[in-house]
Amino acid sequence: MPENAKRVFFGAVILFWKGLAMNRRISSGIGWRIALAVGVAIAASPVLASDFGPVKQMKVDAKKAALGKRLFFDPRLSGDAAISCSTCHIPAKGFADGLALSKAYPGSDGFRNTPTLINTAQKAAWFHDGRIGTNLNDVTRESITETYSMNMDMRLMQERVKQDPIYVKMFKEAGYGEPSNGSIRKAIPEYLKTLTSRGAPFDTGNLSDAAKSGFDLFKGKAGCAACHSGPRFSDDKAHNTGVPENPEIWSNPMRHITYVSFSMFMGIENYMNIRRDVGAHVRTHKSDGTDIGKFMTPTLRELTQTAPYMHNGMIKTLEDVVAFYNRGGGSDPNKDPRIKPLNLSREEQANLVVFLKSLSGEPLTGPEHVWKEKINVNYTAIKDWLNKRN
Ligand code: HEC
Ligand code: HEC
Repeated sequence: MPENAKRVFFGAVILFWKGLAMNRRISSGIGWRIALAVGVAIAASPVLASDFGPVKQMKVDAKKAALGKRLFFDPRLSGDAAISCSTCHIPAKGFADGLALSKAYPGSDGFRNTPTLINTAQKAAWFHDGRIGTNLNDVTRESITETYSMNMDMRLMQERVKQDPIYVKMFKEAGYGEPSNGSIRKAIPEYLKTLTSRGAPFDTGNLSDAAKSGFDLFKGKAGCAACHSGPRFSDDKAHNTGVPENPEIWSNPMRHITYVSFSMFMGIENYMNIRRDVGAHVRTHKSDGTDIGKFMTPTLRELTQTAPYMHNGMIKTLEDVVAFYNRGGGSDPNKDPRIKPLNLSREEQANLVVFLKSLSGEPLTGPEHVWKEKINVNYTAIKDWLNKRN
């Protein structure tokens, strides 16, 4: 049973129970009838508007987050000091990059679409295949050390950071003592916690009639809320919607080498011959292969900043996404049975798009979220550095 339906069901049971209790007290017998009627009425509309947004702002330690912000924008965290997290997660593009498939460490190219990092700290599992389900500290380590991402050795990173007097000061002020790779992996997630959606018309109640009808379709006839639920509009689970493969991953050698090395590392069977991104199969490894082609339900917040869409950027606009669902998704033997032709009129499709756009808020591009000062790498070395702990 989906979470919402479960809540409603148990809500109805509790109301019914209360009704019985009331019935015993007031012998008129009206109590339980009212309760039953209310319960049935609620159960008939399984999704409540209050189950969605706004996304709660998170508690953050300001000093640790400020340190994490500088690290996020600092290219010295990559092996050749050429790319930073913000090379791919660009603030003006909703912390995605506007490309179908991401860039990668120089000498290779990416095979997945860069996801937004807005609200990422509230997720339960990360990456399009959900392969990291522990915490953001692990996602940060993976992003820094993975060869095709930033290709950095944690020990070298630690020594580099220790040479910068500004970091030495910031780590101390943040309560971490001297810079270490462990505290780098804590400070960046602390910064990511500051990236929370705000000001979306959906949350401020500033919705046009078209957006309101779109929301009704979303919860009702179009069935979107079955997977896009909760304040972030995601159930944090993987599903197969039949998004077509991006042929670039197999035709462009720079992308292909990345996918092959990833597949080898993840233990994907027969990886030299398959021509598809297996998705969540890397995590669940089902022997019957029914998990092949499942991807994590993405958030629907900030979509106006993060085109193109899907794990491989195969759909360019929100109009095209809605048309994709209206056709019943793509073709895939493992496709989720809930993805089926919707027969929505042109107007209904347009309303869904207006609704999706109402989930985008203020861009997080001010100094609160972006390290605006130039990061000076030509600092004078720490005096008497051989005798200093740092
Ligand atoms: C070369 C481009 C690139 C760089 C550099 C990069 N990322 Fe990413 N990031 C991606 C891509 C692509 C994905 C999705 C990967 C996948 O699904 O396999 C991703 C995924 C993520 C996610 C998971 C988001 C989600 O919704 O599941 C987080 C968090 C993240 N990156 C943080 C970082 C941090 C922190 C850094 C710097 C230490 C960083 N990234 C550097 C491209 C990049
Ligand atoms: C069975 C679960 C399910 C249902 C139902 C569903 N979605 Fe999705 N949605 C997903 C998954 C999974 C993805 C990611 C697929 C991928 O990356 O290949 C996705 C991706 C999207 C995206 C792209 C987001 C991005 O940032 O890339 C949009 C927009 C979207 N869905 C909107 C909708 C709308 C509108 C409906 C209803 C018409 C809907 N979804 C119904 C599971 C679902």
